[in-house]
Amino acid sequence: MIINRLIAKNWRNFQQINVPLRERQFIVGPNASGKSNLLDIFRFLRDIAKAEGGGLQKAINDRGGVSKIRCLSVGQDPEIAIEIHIADTPDASAMWRYSIGFRQADLGHCQTHLTYERVWREDELLLDRPDADDNEDPDRLTQTALEQIAANAKFREIGGFLRNVTYLHLVPQLIRFADSIQGKIIEDDPFGQAFLERVAGVHPSTRHARLKRIERTLKIAVPQFEKLEFIRDNRGRPHLQAHYSHWRSNEQEQHEDQFSDGMLRLIGLLWSLLESNSVILLEEPELSLNMGIVSKLAPSISRLQRNRGSQVLVSTQSDVLLIEPGIDGREVLMLTPSKEGTVVKPSSDFDDVCVLLKNGFTVGEVVLPQTHPKHIGGLVLPE
Ligand SMILES: Nc1ncnc2c1ncn2[C@@H]1O[C@H](COP(=O)(O)OP(=O)(O)OP(=O)(O)O)[C@@H](O)[C@H]1O
Ligand SMILES: [Mg+2]
Repeated sequence: MIINRLIAKNWRNFQQINVPLRERQFIVGPNASGKSNLLDIFRFLRDIAKAEGGGLQKAINDRGGVSKIRCLSVGQDPEIAIEIHIADTPDASAMWRYSIGFRQADLGHCQTHLTYERVWREDELLLDRPDADDNEDPDRLTQTALEQIAANAKFREIGGFLRNVTYLHLVPQLIRFADSIQGKIIEDDPFGQAFLERVAGVHPSTRHARLKRIERTLKIAVPQFEKLEFIRDNRGRPHLQAHYSHWRSNEQEQHEDQFSDGMLRLIGLLWSLLESNSVILLEEPELSLNMGIVSKLAPSISRLQRNRGSQVLVSTQSDVLLIEPGIDGREVLMLTPSKEGTVVKPSSDFDDVCVLLKNGFTVGEVVLPQTHPKHIGGLVLPE
């Protein structure tokens, strides 16, 4: 299953979003145009679907409250709304539709209240809140049906699907300096601080199979690299261990704290692509990687996504990542900031883009230059 349409209102720097989504979807736009904010909508849906230690109130509090989420460029409308359509393929009609609106409760209440929550299976409306129970006890509107086991028997599939949304934006320094930082690990570990525990938590045969596949890629991507293994040290702590062919001693191995930034990023990226068969969110996967590798990411993502039946949403700033001729204009969402918030459209909605793509140009050549700031020619770094 994939999310084949996203509709949203008043979410951060977007007043309105209504876009179709493909199995592999790139999100491009200038700095601060909202690429990460857009990906965060899917993390938000994952968070509200969590029955234990999650739910609507926590998802909103973790983001600083409704006032931080609600679009600042919008006038009076206090409501934030999200709707997703879930289907088997991008062009199929929706099997499920899930739709919520919420707003800050009136003065005197610190909690956020749902203004509505609706679920459709195909065209059948299965849930339509507020219902009679909500009207009798309005505090019920502080929780979504997704987070209440007793309330979602008819559409539990949606909650299960959303809870599997994966986001990993691995920050190599957090792994390399883990001992010195000894920091608090953010819930769901978005920055890979506990990446080794994540690897350790997988069944040994699955872990072995995944690491072998990653090893095959690393052998091509990283000169002299030979072997990647999972080990535990004498204190039982998990490690990744690499061996390089140019080392004289067969005994010498390197642990993850000595891996390069690019190698750690690539391992994290491949791991998350192999891990999930739901929605996978990738933030600028090109970071720290050699351009030769970046130019192969789009077809590799496509292959892995097809094999696993997952959906991959990728924010990127890299024209090299989008240089593959096989990328369809519909697979790229363009974010264009305006006074009324950022506008989101598939690049195939622009006639000039379509003409150039038909004439053999690639998305990287045509679309990325359009995201460059207008007056970029005048950019000078301060002396
Ligand atoms: N509630 C809000 N209303 C309006 N704008 C907001 C709101 N919350 C955040 N923003 C704006 O969103 C922008 C940041 O968006 P985001 O981090 O998603 O950009 P990005 O495209 O990922 O940028 P980068 O390429 O630098 O990573 C900031 O300019 C911030 O002011
Ligand atoms: Mg960003």
